[in-house]
Amino acid sequence: MKLIYVAGKGGVGKSVCSAASGIWTAHQGKDTLVFSMDPAHSLSDIFDIDLGDQPRKIREHLYAYEPDLAEEAREFFRRYKNIFTALFGLFEVEIKPEDFGNMPGVSELIFMDKLNDIYVEKKYDFVVIDSAPTAMVLPLLQLPSITTGFVTKVLGMRNRWMGVLDLLQPGFGDRILVEVRSMRQKAETMRNALLDPETASITVITIPEKAAVEESRRLIETVESHGVSVSSIVINHVIGDCDCRFCREKKASQVSYVEDLRKRYQEKRIAILPDYGGEVKGDNLMQVAEDLYGREQLKI
Ligand SMILES: Nc1ncnc2c1ncn2[C@@H]1O[C@H](COP(=O)(O)OP(=O)(O)OP(=O)(O)O)[C@@H](O)[C@H]1O
Ligand SMILES: [Mg+2]
Repeated sequence: MKLIYVAGKGGVGKSVCSAASGIWTAHQGKDTLVFSMDPAHSLSDIFDIDLGDQPRKIREHLYAYEPDLAEEAREFFRRYKNIFTALFGLFEVEIKPEDFGNMPGVSELIFMDKLNDIYVEKKYDFVVIDSAPTAMVLPLLQLPSITTGFVTKVLGMRNRWMGVLDLLQPGFGDRILVEVRSMRQKAETMRNALLDPETASITVITIPEKAAVEESRRLIETVESHGVSVSSIVINHVIGDCDCRFCREKKASQVSYVEDLRKRYQEKRIAILPDYGGEVKGDNLMQVAEDLYGREQLKI
């Protein structure tokens, strides 16, 4: 199974490129799942199909999935019931599972847990991950160390606290440890998958504008400092040949950013996508897939 993780700033075309990548791999006869990790899902709009909260087959070899965050948060709570009971009990906070999913950074953890289920099931040849604008590959990369730290602490506290926890309910302490170990194992599995270039590729989508280029540079730097390499960059919304004044001026300002990216990232694949002049969805996605993969700008 291969993972294609699509990251980038808000609104640059991540979902369009994810959908197009899925269409391409499915077109090559590979069973593909396009998985939305953005709580504000947009794959239904882009594929022009109502996706439910289960993977749905949308054409030969192609499935898409927009997990329902509130439902997955409840499931996450059920899976790690003892951890949350202890954590929230300890701090005397009361949090409803569905609200928990809306806490910053938490949706990534929940979706990551779900992605792990899909990853270990190995049902698909490709899983394309359409990420949220914040592109937080980071919680995922840091999670093993956070949970490792947590396990170490819990183990350290074991002698002092296990008795107390067990007093609340016999076996409570051990059940927490089992859950923490399971959480950590999943986090490690997913991190190792992302670290392995044979398994995962990270594609950063950007547009030739200052803020987007700067944000992409920071994103790439941060991700790569964690040992995960970004294999490709897609520069989207590039103005084509048009002689009108608006396009000429826009094109002139885009050129230096495109050159800058090409120079800075010589070792990466750089793909250019034109501005299609209107929303890209449904049947138009095949054109995007052709432009990205058919012309061998990107490779699967
Ligand atoms: N090359 C393009 N030409 C014209 N329109 C495009 C192009 N790429 C994307 N769009 C349009 O731009 C909008 C944003 O695209 P998309 O939803 O893929 O971005 P995103 O990065 O996933 O956004 P978000 O960060 O909100 O998830 C959509 O309306 C899409 O149809
Ligand atoms: Mg999106």
